[in-house]
Amino acid sequence: MTTHSSKPVAVITGGARGIGLAIGKWFLANGYCIALLDIDQQTLSKTEAALALKEEVLCLHCDVSKPEQVDAAVAQIDAKYGRIDALINNAGVAVFKPIGQTTFAEWRHVLSTNLDGTFLCSQACVPLMLKGKGGSIVNIASISGLRASTLRVAYGTSKAALIQLTKQQAVELGSVGIRVNVIAPGPVDTDMAKLVHSVAIRSDYYDTIPLNRYGTTEEIAQVAGFLCSAAASYVNGQVLAVDGGFEATGVGLPTLRRDANAA
Ligand SMILES: NC(=O)c1ccc[n+]([C@@H]2O[C@H](COP(=O)([O-])OP(=O)(O)OC[C@H]3O[C@@H](n4cnc5c(N)ncnc54)[C@H](O)[C@@H]3O)[C@@H](O)[C@H]2O)c1
Repeated sequence: MTTHSSKPVAVITGGARGIGLAIGKWFLANGYCIALLDIDQQTLSKTEAALALKEEVLCLHCDVSKPEQVDAAVAQIDAKYGRIDALINNAGVAVFKPIGQTTFAEWRHVLSTNLDGTFLCSQACVPLMLKGKGGSIVNIASISGLRASTLRVAYGTSKAALIQLTKQQAVELGSVGIRVNVIAPGPVDTDMAKLVHSVAIRSDYYDTIPLNRYGTTEEIAQVAGFLCSAAASYVNGQVLAVDGGFEATGVGLPTLRRDANAA
């Protein structure tokens, strides 16, 4: 029998660690029950043990790029909570390689996780949101979806597509009471960033970003939480860069910035 949670429910994909886990903790701290979906069972089990909240946390092993796994996960959320109020499409993978060295398998891996995953999870969660009073979807893209760069043929393209998917969803789902927005984080210190950012890249980011630092997972989580809250009740179809000013810099030559600081 489907129970109906008296608390609102947030679903976070890629929630076992990093930005997704920080988002999950934000929702827990703000009175929600959460469902964390992740492909990495080992990390997910550790997270489940660390959170140690049987009623408020549901951890589900799920590859978001596989329709049948997504449907099965949403069926379990329905069985436990009977509602979904917020969905954060955060699961993502990064492959940073030149165009000529990016294999078709790598291209498909990145596109299927970052783009197909968001399409599938949204499609599966929307009916449950509509059984209630609607809800909010937040997709996690990247500044790589706003600004092109080398080595990001698959990653940057997937995130740019995710931004357009967000607008498509916002236009169509807004009229039935579901707001959809997208966050474009700048560099955030997580395992993913450690994997693809060398020491030299880190130093370049410090030089280029007006706030001179990486963001934290909590800084992304707070914005995701805000977008799902009543405080954002008229925000729909927007791209919000949470990037320390990186997107605003344009030709942000470090030398020019140093000169400006010296003046
Ligand atoms: N860290 C950054 O600098 C940064 C910057 C911009 C955007 N982002 C985006 O933020 C999101 C989270 O990144 P993070 O840094 O926390 O990365 P992370 O690698 O630490 O966490 C990503 C999580 O997604 C899970 N995942 C991967 N593929 C999956 C799949 N097919 N199905 C279900 N789960 C899957 C992983 O197991 C992992 O737990 C990603 O979408 C990423 O592209 C990160």
